[in-house]
Amino acid sequence: MKQGKRVGIVGAGNVGATVAYSLAMLGSCHEIILRDNKIDVARGKALDMSQAASAVRSHTVVRVAESMEELVNCDVVVVTAGSPRLPGMSRDDLLMINANITKEVIEGIAKYSPDAIIIMVSNPLDAMTYVALKESGFDRSRVIGMAGILDSSRMAAFIQEKLGYGGGQIRASVMGGHGDDMVPLPRYSTVAGVPLTDVLSDSEIAEIVDRTRHGGAEIVGYLKTGSAYYAPAKSTAIMVEAILKDTKQIHPCAVYLEGEYGYSDVVSGVPVMLGANGAEKIIEVTLNAAEQEMFKSSCASVQELIKTLNKNNFFGGK
Ligand code: LAC
Repeated sequence: MKQGKRVGIVGAGNVGATVAYSLAMLGSCHEIILRDNKIDVARGKALDMSQAASAVRSHTVVRVAESMEELVNCDVVVVTAGSPRLPGMSRDDLLMINANITKEVIEGIAKYSPDAIIIMVSNPLDAMTYVALKESGFDRSRVIGMAGILDSSRMAAFIQEKLGYGGGQIRASVMGGHGDDMVPLPRYSTVAGVPLTDVLSDSEIAEIVDRTRHGGAEIVGYLKTGSAYYAPAKSTAIMVEAILKDTKQIHPCAVYLEGEYGYSDVVSGVPVMLGANGAEKIIEVTLNAAEQEMFKSSCASVQELIKTLNKNNFFGGK
């Protein structure tokens, strides 16, 4: 019998496991179910986390699903499953491999947790969110990609580093896709309400924008064998919490656009109100000509990936 809120996490690698740990520490839900092909690794992590939850007197239980069938009646399912880019693999190769993994996972979610809200984390993020939407047949409010919170947090951290003050008071804004042409918005970024443009010079801001765009690669450069996971996982946990607690908070998230910002049939990062029904509202921010141009190229990159999927007949006429 189901008690309280249940969160499923597909992929118990660094990101998936850290999302689970973060939620377990917060006690945001009754149950977390980890699903990974490496069942024993998932089992070990689940036990470890349940014990950590006991240590902080959290009621959250972490357990393992041996198959997708056990990922049943989840309120939210986070999808982090995917292959990393291996030597010799093109971006398109990775796209097709992860699209196929996503397709299989989403079929299982649609079957066993048909009322769930899906949060996509696998890369390439915007294209995988598009695949998840098409394959699930869910309303677009229930298929949301995580990237904007991560990219904005990176920008905020870089602003704090540059200023040397303002920690915890910085609101950075990043829209667009989760790629090199994401759209950091200094005009909509503030330090305790003070516009960023009043406290930093144009060249300092340009440096922060560039570093934000390559924030993921900077970390891969140090880790060598993997990519970031603390900030990606925390950003995901923030979305899960906002949904479970029906907070109606506004966060930048990747959603399917149906005319917003002048785009349709593409997924991109925009400010979204999160609540019990998922992405309950999309907020349209006024962009100036230069920002619109950046948003356009960001959408064009995602449209290019969708084109590649179609060229490979991925959706089979869907
Ligand atoms: C990042 C990759 C994992 O931004 O998307 O860290």
